Amino acid sequence: MGELLRMVEDEDDIDPQQLWSLATNMKSERGGDWHMARVENLTWRLRNMWSKNGQEAKNIGAAQRLLQFLEKSSVPLKKAPEEMRAPEGLQSVGGRQGLKGSQLLEVSEFGTGDFRTPSMDVCFRKDGSRLLPLVYKHHRVIDGILPSTSGLPFLGRHNSQGAQSLVVDMVDTYTEVQVQLVYTVFPSISAVSRRMVVKNSSKVGLGGVDLMKCMSATFDFSTDDWHLLSLHGGWANERHINTRRIQEGMIHLGSNRGVSSHQMNPFCVLSSGPPAEDHGQCFGFCLLYSGNWLMEVEQSQTGCVRVNVGLSNTHFSWALGNQESFETPECVCVFSDAGLGKMTRTFQHLIGERLIAPRWHDLVCPVLINTWEALYFEVYHDKILEFAKPAIEAGVELLVLDDGWFGKRDDDTTSLGDWVEDPRKLPRGLKGLAQDVNAMGLKLGIWVEPEMVNQDSQLYRSHPEWVLHHPGRLRSEGRNQLVLDLTRREVQDYIIDCVSQILSSANIEYIKWDMNRALTDAFSAALPPQQQGEVYHRYVLGLYRIFEVLTSSFPHVLFESCASGGGRFDAALLAWCPQAWCSDNSDAFSRTRIQMGTSMWAPVRCMGAHIAACPSHQTHRTHMLKTRFIVALWGTFGLELDLNKLSREELKEMKELVALRGKLCQVVLHGEYFRLPGFGYPGASHSNSAGIGDSHVYAWMFVTPEKDRAVVSAIVFHRDTVGKFPSRLKLQGLRPDYLYSLIEHVPTTVEEGVFNGIFQPGGPQFKHRRRLMLTGAVLMEVGIPVHFNFDGDAMLLELEVGGPSQEPKESNGVHVLAS
Ligand code: DGJ
Repeated sequence: MGELLRMVEDEDDIDPQQLWSLATNMKSERGGDWHMARVENLTWRLRNMWSKNGQEAKNIGAAQRLLQFLEKSSVPLKKAPEEMRAPEGLQSVGGRQGLKGSQLLEVSEFGTGDFRTPSMDVCFRKDGSRLLPLVYKHHRVIDGILPSTSGLPFLGRHNSQGAQSLVVDMVDTYTEVQVQLVYTVFPSISAVSRRMVVKNSSKVGLGGVDLMKCMSATFDFSTDDWHLLSLHGGWANERHINTRRIQEGMIHLGSNRGVSSHQMNPFCVLSSGPPAEDHGQCFGFCLLYSGNWLMEVEQSQTGCVRVNVGLSNTHFSWALGNQESFETPECVCVFSDAGLGKMTRTFQHLIGERLIAPRWHDLVCPVLINTWEALYFEVYHDKILEFAKPAIEAGVELLVLDDGWFGKRDDDTTSLGDWVEDPRKLPRGLKGLAQDVNAMGLKLGIWVEPEMVNQDSQLYRSHPEWVLHHPGRLRSEGRNQLVLDLTRREVQDYIIDCVSQILSSANIEYIKWDMNRALTDAFSAALPPQQQGEVYHRYVLGLYRIFEVLTSSFPHVLFESCASGGGRFDAALLAWCPQAWCSDNSDAFSRTRIQMGTSMWAPVRCMGAHIAACPSHQTHRTHMLKTRFIVALWGTFGLELDLNKLSREELKEMKELVALRGKLCQVVLHGEYFRLPGFGYPGASHSNSAGIGDSHVYAWMFVTPEKDRAVVSAIVFHRDTVGKFPSRLKLQGLRPDYLYSLIEHVPTTVEEGVFNGIFQPGGPQFKHRRRLMLTGAVLMEVGIPVHFNFDGDAMLLELEVGGPSQEPKESNGVHVLAS
């Protein structure tokens, strides 16, 4: 109101357009108040009059009348104490609560008529008041991205080409606390990212403001048959797809574990009708954040749905002194008018091109072998070299030395924090190991877990105060370890120094950055009482600073993040670590579900996936190598087993598979990705094969941007009754008019004469030795027959336009294309 009055008072400077839009906003802010309806009407008439008659003909008299009217219509509140009184002309206004509570808002506060879950909650320290009704002030559109100094990752950080941002300034007219809504869009991409910046510019002597809740984005939707898709699980069981119909009430998704978590992933989808892979409207929300987060999905009594995305407000508060600002993490919202598949591809493009550092854009993830499940803590120099020998033969490029190489780490009770080589295991240190491994033709990578400390460590003995805990209370331990207080600059610097020293001491080209427990006892002795609510968020900001410094100092080192498997698999960390370990569970069935869910938003080349030994160390299940290969191919691709334990034939097969991965990886890692729905045995519900619900059959594929090559995979968990065939597998993303040649790689070998449900005698070997030539239209609309031979069977097809000139040759049960 104050602004409107001021504008009218300043007769020479009346912008009729602005005056009208201000009045319009105030009208809606006051919930359709009749005074404001008349004011708006008057400003509209003034605007029209002035635009017709030109500037000189400004009707000052009309403006005067407006001013008088406004003075009369102001509704002063009960008088506040002198020191809290709003400046002249800034009296707060009441509104009709019912209307405000049913509007579709971009930002919402609680206590002035909107009873839904708010975007913000503040507390003014001086008087304890918590009201913050915001009104529109102005907006601007800028080319590029509004600069950020928060240290949080955001889309366009490295590549803002073509980006445009809308900055909407909102203000609480009483206190003049300012809130900026920052939206960014990128050309030809159906997505918008949103963050919020709050500035305490309180001019009415209310002093400090505590932010109690400050969400990144609020999206209000009109009534529809809304469904929610979200990703849930636990350790070794991450990111399973869960869908439900939204009804009245509130759904909370989130994590208060200090990490984005195994249990829920900071991502959800609001879908109009049940979510489907290839049709229907949906909105995907992804929060770029690695700590405590919250997504609230609320259907109010009107049927409208609010989606609130941002930091968790559990044990959160942020003290804002006068003129201080707070910036939220960024929420990315993607719209698709063609189901989940299109939404996924939009996320994958955005993250791949606008978040991951450009130097990794064209990365073909190196084939790595990791020592963990092969050697566990027994990582002795000579043993590692023995371990490396068959890996070289198999075509591996990078050896990753996992846990156990430092301090006296023979088990998980000791040495975290002491990042110095154990001379018993590495007598020539990492440097000597790197020299030997490099001489064999492999790169060297190492595992670290720098955010943690064991009580049994030099670091803890020197700095017990560096651990998150309350000095008067017992602490909770997890995996025998404590969490370092990353809110402290000196702790961040210690970690930066340790890791920098390691990286400078030897030729290390990859880091696996692990984090094996959740945060508890989140109290920092370094922060004053009124800032203890900041610990969780400051921890994450500290972590981001560490990554920023390390990855800028060692830009050639490839970082892969990990947190007891996939406990911190979030988009934010991809800004520094372009790969993330999906899960400690590498069993092919478990991984299929995990990777289906993860692929909802994550680019395939970020999903850490390995072939592990059988029986699986997590499930004790056994899968044939081919099946494990097909699932690991659907990610970064690596090995997590001791190749010395394979027979000569198995090692030969592994070598052929690694070579086959080399042939297909460009399509898989940099192609368009499709989950394939509607494939399965009779009675299988539609879409199951694309990951929704419990399915027996799953299928997915990759197509180059030029649509001239594709790779198709399918896996069966449980084959239906003998003699039943699954429905035809319909492909996606091809050009209907192209003629593709199809070849099956590594067809499952079955004994001649065994009845296996395949309608042609001789089984799949006979059938697939031929090369099929089919158009894209047939492949997509009619589909191809697929036959599985037993539980755990899988299929891998390669498609090429026109087809290569040579026939496949058979080698020991493995079919490979002659190069
Ligand atoms: C948990 C990780 O997920 C594993 O891959 C392995 O690195 C262990 N930590 C080592 O302690």
